[in-house]
Amino acid sequence: MRDILIAGNWKMNGGSAGNAELVAEIIAGAPATDRVRLLICPPFPYLAAVAAQLTGSEVLLGAQTVSEHSIGAFTGEISTSMLKDVGCDYVIVGHSERRALYGETSEAVAAKFKAVIESGLAPILCVGETLAEREAGSTEAVIDEQMQAVFDSVGIDGFATAVVAYEPVWAIGTGMTASPEQAQDVHRHIRSSMEAQNKDIAEATLILYGGSVKSDNAAGLFSMPDIDGGLIGGASLKANDFLAIATAAASI
Ligand code: PGA
Repeated sequence: MRDILIAGNWKMNGGSAGNAELVAEIIAGAPATDRVRLLICPPFPYLAAVAAQLTGSEVLLGAQTVSEHSIGAFTGEISTSMLKDVGCDYVIVGHSERRALYGETSEAVAAKFKAVIESGLAPILCVGETLAEREAGSTEAVIDEQMQAVFDSVGIDGFATAVVAYEPVWAIGTGMTASPEQAQDVHRHIRSSMEAQNKDIAEATLILYGGSVKSDNAAGLFSMPDIDGGLIGGASLKANDFLAIATAAASI
């Protein structure tokens, strides 16, 4: 049986005082089960302070994006070795906001994914379709294109430590959630595309669902066979909401 990962993507939210309180509450309230792992992804400036606060706890730390380059004249960018240096375990790559607002192509996302695995950090690869794409019946084609760019770059073996997050763009921050069945269909499709290349890696890879996950819809989603947890945006900013989702996961 796969573990469950509950990952909080804070996006561009937070500040020193509030973060310290939120992190303390998450550490204190984390469910006492090895099967449910918690991960938080604060903005870059707060990673080191949050890492220090997480020392000795089981809560994991991640970043929200990273440069594909390793070092040098790339003003404003952050490298994988810097993220390792401050204590990160994971890096989100290809979040739909990065793809839509900052022009990250599937090839650029694949280059970041490659940099992350080469550094020894674990990537969380986000894939997902827009509402127009879903309505046009092209959900699977969109996901396939996003996955294929990464397969072309690192092969299936590159997924050995990776997490995939299916995040339908129309469900992110909108309060509209994919039904457990809609999400399961896409998760199954993603796992099948991996299975065709390596059954063991496909079976072991965590595939998270993201998009308006809340405490009242979490259990339904996480009880589907191919949904292994969630990537949580808005509800990760309040300890009670985030922990209620973790508790729902622990009850499955
Ligand atoms: P949301 O965001 O939970 O606020 O919909 C999810 C995400 O973008 O990762």
